[in-house]
Amino acid sequence: MSMNLVTLLYLVASICFIQALKGLSNPKMARRGNAFGMIGMTIAALTTLALIFELRKLSNGNFSGLGLILAGLVVGGGIGAYVARKVEMTKMPELVAAMHSLIGLAAVCIAVAAVAEPAAFGIVAAGQPLPPGNRIELFIGTFVGAITFSGSVIAFGKLSGKYKFRLFQGAPVVFKGQHMVNLALAIAMLGFGGAFFVSQSWTPFVIMTAIAFVLGVLIIIPIGGADMPVVVSMLNSYSGWAAAGIGFSLNNPMLIIAGSLVGSSGAILSYIMCKAMNRSFFNVILGGFGAQAGAGAAAGEQQQRPVKSGSPDDAAFLMSNAESLVIVPGYGLAVARAQHALKELTDKLVEKGVSVRYAIHPVAGRMPGHMNVLLAEAEVPYDQVLEMDEINGEFGQTDVVLVLGANDVVNPAAKNDPQSPIAGMPILEAYKAKTIIVNKRSMAAGYAGLDNELFYLDKTMMVFGDAKKVVEEMVKAAA
Ligand code: TAP
Repeated sequence: MSMNLVTLLYLVASICFIQALKGLSNPKMARRGNAFGMIGMTIAALTTLALIFELRKLSNGNFSGLGLILAGLVVGGGIGAYVARKVEMTKMPELVAAMHSLIGLAAVCIAVAAVAEPAAFGIVAAGQPLPPGNRIELFIGTFVGAITFSGSVIAFGKLSGKYKFRLFQGAPVVFKGQHMVNLALAIAMLGFGGAFFVSQSWTPFVIMTAIAFVLGVLIIIPIGGADMPVVVSMLNSYSGWAAAGIGFSLNNPMLIIAGSLVGSSGAILSYIMCKAMNRSFFNVILGGFGAQAGAGAAAGEQQQRPVKSGSPDDAAFLMSNAESLVIVPGYGLAVARAQHALKELTDKLVEKGVSVRYAIHPVAGRMPGHMNVLLAEAEVPYDQVLEMDEINGEFGQTDVVLVLGANDVVNPAAKNDPQSPIAGMPILEAYKAKTIIVNKRSMAAGYAGLDNELFYLDKTMMVFGDAKKVVEEMVKAAA
């Protein structure tokens, strides 16, 4: 296979990746986008494999490790396919964090191997030292990879909420002088990277890598609560840059292009999410802004204040007699997998002449686009689904709002209480509607661990229970 053909195939794969990103930015095109991504990755992997066969031929069959590469592809691909089939959508952020940790670790392993045997990677002829440019690329790729690995492991632990280990708790871990410690470590890391550049010796390289692993942990532990999604997308971006850095060292245009696409799209997504939550990107990254309590602290929190509660039948009656209904879906809807029952309910209400719309908050659920995907899965018409900016002005004229398993994204404290940890986060202004129906299982807090005034308003009726069961009962009552 000639190098021209390899370059051409890598170019085709890159165009597929760009088409994939374009498709994934719009729910209607998302399937096509995914297909482009899969085709691009298949072309990239097969081309690289063919290149390895070629190298084997050139080295008169002495090239070892082909069996290991194929075994890696089968085992890794098999595990990936199994996990992707099994994972629930609400657990996707943890899965993504786990995957990023592997990308970071892979970048570190490749860099270590390239420093040890640069000739084996075709960087230099046997016995020659690494050129200065490659030393810089390798040390940048290594520390970004190491930070991505350990940071993603902590993010995985925090998001899964299953582990007792203190650093894996949803709540931020902060200590005095944290920023100064991080700064000192970052300077030391770069200093040892510089020493490696000058000497090409192992000692500064290993120390730099070790510091980067520690720094990854320290950067992520002070972040918690509602800021975790930004962290996941930021780590996504890091993993892309780590791959691009290694691509430069290995002279592999595919890695450079794919890494840069992941790096820049992750950075743009982080920016969009910060904007959606009215957060400063640097405040989030520099430590725990707006997150005094996380998922762990929220669990089990009970409020003692009285609320009005009703049955699914009462709610169905109110909705059937409304002219306009806005539904606010949240994380609880996703966990309960209530979207299909909800579609059935709204079909019935539309038949009765009720104008039904869905209001989507950009960070509702546990990952960007979570609610759009759920509703698309239930075949909710796209024209009923409105983004926060499109619907917020209309809550004041809405008869009934049905909040299904959402909490933080409709919490008026974000607007009214400057001391609130979510102060400044734009919310869906459900509190302005004439009547509000809220379904959740208890009075427990949401992801940010906060009480919600919306539940105590005179015009609010709580309907307690699992979202799927409650909506199914509403469907029967609306018949
Ligand atoms: P949350 O604030 O987490 O509230 C979800 C509510 O759903 C909870 O109060 C819970 O109350 C209820 N619930 C849980 N299981 C339920 C079930 N089976 N049936 C009915 N209700 C159920 O969700 P939200 O309003 O969607 O806000 C999202 C939050 O997550 C924000 O703070 C956001 O920043 C954060 N976050 C977002 C993302 C992205 S990018 N979307 C990623 C990570 C975190 P009960 O326990 O009483 O039922």
